[in-house]
Amino acid sequence: MKSRSHRFPEASPSALPPATADDPLADNARTHVDLIRKALAVVRPQFRLDAANGIHGVPHWSRVWFHGRRLAQALEVNPHILAWFAFLHDSQRRNDGWDPGHGRRAADYAVRLRRERVVVELSPGEFECLCEAMRLHSDGHVVGEPAILACWDSDRLDLARVGIRPDPDRLGTGPARRRETIEQAVRLARGEPSGVRAGSRRGRDTP
Ligand SMILES: [Fe+2]
Repeated sequence: MKSRSHRFPEASPSALPPATADDPLADNARTHVDLIRKALAVVRPQFRLDAANGIHGVPHWSRVWFHGRRLAQALEVNPHILAWFAFLHDSQRRNDGWDPGHGRRAADYAVRLRRERVVVELSPGEFECLCEAMRLHSDGHVVGEPAILACWDSDRLDLARVGIRPDPDRLGTGPARRRETIEQAVRLARGEPSGVRAGSRRGRDTP
């Protein structure tokens, strides 16, 4: 894959990336690249919505993974949980607005992928955490297992893409609540050419 002009902060400390476009591998570290390629190859073709430009499409999944792997490192949880969460949690949406069943459907989809030996990187307990995180990810909880909280926070940190600044009181982990983390997430989301106007909101379960 060709290198892009944008880079994540560790590659260019003075500047946040202007965009991740639809390229979830636009990261110098290229961590977990095999898992991400596999996830995209499986998940993207079945996604019903606008994967390239939609508010719940690949650019969002990419940023959730960006936040998720940092939270995984800070909280010492398996980053593979965060990776699968990033690329699966909105994969079963039927619209970009109010879709209260999409988390449960995502968990059901993960179970199917597990049965088909696609999701193989997680222990049984880790896989259950992943499914629980997906089932409840748009319900606003801030209490739970560290891995589950990291999943939820990685998603909520990207709320600025729809004009909502992440609220520290609605984040469940210390690293996510840090002012610098939120500022970085806001800048990252605003750099995304998603076509969504700042200030708009498309439904209560937007994450
Ligand atoms: Fe999301």
